[in-house]
Amino acid sequence: MGKDVIIACDFPSKEATFAFLDKFGDEKPFVKIGMELFYAEGPAIVRDIKRRGHKIFLDLKLHDIPNTVKKAMQVLSSLDVDMCNVHAAGTAAMMEAALEGLTRPDGTRPLLIAVTQLTSTDQERMERDLLIREPIDQVVMHYAATAAKAGLDGVVCSPLEAGKVHEVCGVGFLTVTPGVRFADGELGDQARVTTPARAKELGSDYIVVGRPITAADDPVAAYKRCMQEFTD
Ligand code: C5P
Repeated sequence: MGKDVIIACDFPSKEATFAFLDKFGDEKPFVKIGMELFYAEGPAIVRDIKRRGHKIFLDLKLHDIPNTVKKAMQVLSSLDVDMCNVHAAGTAAMMEAALEGLTRPDGTRPLLIAVTQLTSTDQERMERDLLIREPIDQVVMHYAATAAKAGLDGVVCSPLEAGKVHEVCGVGFLTVTPGVRFADGELGDQARVTTPARAKELGSDYIVVGRPITAADDPVAAYKRCMQEFTD
């Protein structure tokens, strides 16, 4: 898989999503469907967007006992998405079960990546609420290494962590990175951000971009600018 820009379709309904995707005409960007849209519209929204010709990252961040995750992944696998994810905190056994569930009878499967520590979790919250006392960057690298050992394809992380993840887990281990903003854009609620060009330099394999594209006056132009900065 080559480098690509994934648009976070954080919309509340099918209508809002299609109104947005219609602007792209024959261009079919890679899109991310998260909990908001999936819970609002159900699996049909995945089939509809797939039918329109888009690649899909289904961002549902599964985290449960291994057997439950395996069964859930079997269902998601039949939806024919291109990428989906789990929380690495579910342990190696859960990630291995997820891979098993995701693998179709013919041996093919979507890419499976792991969330390490959410970017909303900082050192203080991790120590206080989770009783994890190591430095957070070490925790992220340990979760990434555990995901790699379990056979996963990559992790969701900050572009700032992409180089280290590749060092620890290998260059082929994918880094899918949100927290991307244009140099002249709004930060929103993202704190540690990089531009698409910087994310490329840092070694991100995929950037996940939401509001800089979805809330732009001209979303297609914003998408093209991202693609140009990140992939050229
Ligand atoms: O609008 P924005 O570009 O901030 O969107 C980023 C997307 O990536 C959102 O869908 C957000 O939920 C997701 N995400 C994130 N940070 C993570 C994991 C996912 O921003 N650590």
